[in-house]
Amino acid sequence: MAVEPQSRTWEASFAERTRGGAGDAIAAILAFAGATDVISFAGGFPDPKTFPGKALAEIHAELVENGDASPFQYAPTRGLPGPRDYVASRVERLDGRRPDDPELLLTSGAIEALELIGKAFLDEGDEVVVEAPTYLGGIMAFESFESRVRGVPLDDEGMQVDALESLLARGPAPKLVYTIPDHQNPSGVSLTAERRGRLVELARRHGFLLVEDVAYRELRYSGEQPPSLWSLAPEAVVQIGTFSKTFVPGVRLGWAVGPPEVVARLTWAKQLTDQCAGALGQRLLEEYGRRGLLDRQIAAAIELYRGRRDALLAALERYFAGAARWTRSAGGFFSWVELDPPHEAVAVAEQALTAGVAIVPGGPFFPEGGGERHLRISFSLVSEEEIEEGIRRVGALLCPSR
Ligand SMILES: Cc1ncc(COP(=O)(O)O)c(C=O)c1O
Repeated sequence: MAVEPQSRTWEASFAERTRGGAGDAIAAILAFAGATDVISFAGGFPDPKTFPGKALAEIHAELVENGDASPFQYAPTRGLPGPRDYVASRVERLDGRRPDDPELLLTSGAIEALELIGKAFLDEGDEVVVEAPTYLGGIMAFESFESRVRGVPLDDEGMQVDALESLLARGPAPKLVYTIPDHQNPSGVSLTAERRGRLVELARRHGFLLVEDVAYRELRYSGEQPPSLWSLAPEAVVQIGTFSKTFVPGVRLGWAVGPPEVVARLTWAKQLTDQCAGALGQRLLEEYGRRGLLDRQIAAAIELYRGRRDALLAALERYFAGAARWTRSAGGFFSWVELDPPHEAVAVAEQALTAGVAIVPGGPFFPEGGGERHLRISFSLVSEEEIEEGIRRVGALLCPSR
């Protein structure tokens, strides 16, 4: 019997791996982020003001004219030799250790690196531990392989390593522990040097792979950079990084650096995903970076975002004091607000939208529930004037008598 077109639904056919709730949450956040005519603290996007224009056009023209086909051809799965050398040198400068050739894979952004790690490591029911709250894309990537994702709380010093230790003692043992040690998304906090040491010791002792996401590391506005987890334990850590926040997200470029055996398996997984990161983006990044332009871009972006971070903290002090607490990030794009009772995040976010301000409620960033009183505020895409006005409007909802 023919099925009426309008009654056709695919729901029953979808794979189990697509049923995690995080996908809906991302769609909801993007809906907040996409709202027009509002002051948007919603998305974690870099400001296009930081993007290179003319320099990139010139490099592109050179690549077209110099007769080298490599930018336009398929690339090796691990990446083109020149861009690999450039990224290895960069990692060496930041981490004090150059990845050996078999330790490095160029990826199509950090999100692909997470997907490859999930594909290479996770079977149905496997345990993964993440920070609670954490980057939604991480929760989604791990859930999509039908793993069980559990959360370890954070405080002002990053992941609570004591809580992880208790969780490990109770079991079952996780295969992966995922952390964002620098200016975390969504909380803005960073893992202290002392906790970094203890975390890699736990990885060694318990045999899990520690996945270190350094997406925001280079956008530091104050304070000293502690050593990366990979530099402390290259045999137990995979570091994933991205050029989305420092260069442009449009090239979709990132890296994974880790034990050779692990990187080989990620490379296998990548052959079934996109075969290789786009060669044109790899070559643009390499040429741009080798001319010192990426370093210049990052230095200018730090100045821009530092001003916004400071403007946000000052506005929160002015308009939220007495109704909430918040984190003071040393870098990255986010501050994390905890509302005092009786305020609830979803209700406040809805009222804020009516007042022309988009802000994301915290619930979706937790793998096992929570966040009812939390808001994520992203300051990367709003001017200092908009920050003042947006926070003033939300503050008026929280403290109408002020
Ligand atoms: C912590 C974290 N990791 C990874 C990503 C994804 O980066 P990419 O654009 O390289 O996929 C993001 C983007 O928001 C992020 O916040």
